[in-house]
Amino acid sequence: MDAKVARPMKMIAQLQPLRELVRGWKANGERVAFVPTMGNLHAGHASLLSAAHLHGRRVVASVFVNPLQFGPHEDYRRYPRPRARDRARLVAAGVDLLWEPDVGDLYPDGERTRVRVAGFDAVLEGAARPGHFEGVATVVLKLVNAVGPDDLWLGQKDAQQARIVERMVADLFVPVRVRRGPTVREPDGLARSSRNAYLSAAERDDALALSRGLASARAALERGERSAAAVARAVRAAWRRMPGVREDYVAVVDADTLQPVRAVRRRVLVAVAARVGRARLIDNFEWEP
Ligand code: PAJ
Repeated sequence: MDAKVARPMKMIAQLQPLRELVRGWKANGERVAFVPTMGNLHAGHASLLSAAHLHGRRVVASVFVNPLQFGPHEDYRRYPRPRARDRARLVAAGVDLLWEPDVGDLYPDGERTRVRVAGFDAVLEGAARPGHFEGVATVVLKLVNAVGPDDLWLGQKDAQQARIVERMVADLFVPVRVRRGPTVREPDGLARSSRNAYLSAAERDDALALSRGLASARAALERGERSAAAVARAVRAAWRRMPGVREDYVAVVDADTLQPVRAVRRRVLVAVAARVGRARLIDNFEWEP
């Protein structure tokens, strides 16, 4: 993020003028990058925005807490919505256009039409959060159809989300290019997440288990380990010393299909989820032999 590049940020609520503005930029030959978010912005979002900036002439961001992707017992209502602070951060990030739709703008006639990437949504986060990825895929398709960008930027932090959107875009011939930004971490390794705010100081220490466990898994792979079960054991061994960490899953899956593998022969996604206090945290890395 470079404050020097800050330029006037437009805020448009209505769909039609939003589309026209983007269409005008594209007609001018300006590449348009789009970064969808749920707000409560942190350094992970900022890094996506600056990557978008490097690759595109214009950057469009959306802030929308999407009810469709939250389960009935999840944190939709208490999800933080620091609107003024988010706007200031988006201005500082040099965003050209901010779209902050309301639920009624995005779902004017309810949400009968859903998009589901079958199979990809039954594993990992999808197994723990039924309906979550249907909500994500549906809203991302709607946002992309509304904005009409050249590039869509998503974070590796949510690898399954990125993969599902990539597959949706390919399957439905959506004319956008999906790009991934790397996971941004705190100096000690904890992946940045809005949900880190739910951690107490002691839980914050326990939360390091995720990145440390993944570091052990990576070390095992680098040493030549190719058994997925052994790679998962390396994660769990690191977690045994941390009683505050309750495993949800430790998975080694094919990076393209997200299906579990027994042996690491091609690109894999090593993904973990654990509960620490009342927060549910995820982290991952991809690795290729
Ligand atoms: P949100 O959680 O706000 O995240 C917006 C984008 O920021 C996502 O692409 C996410 O992967 C990325 N991101 C979050 N933490 C990151 C980190 N530490 N490093 C790099 N990127 C990070 O993900 C969503 O919103 C929603 O599901 C959305 C795609 C907007 C659809 O509602």
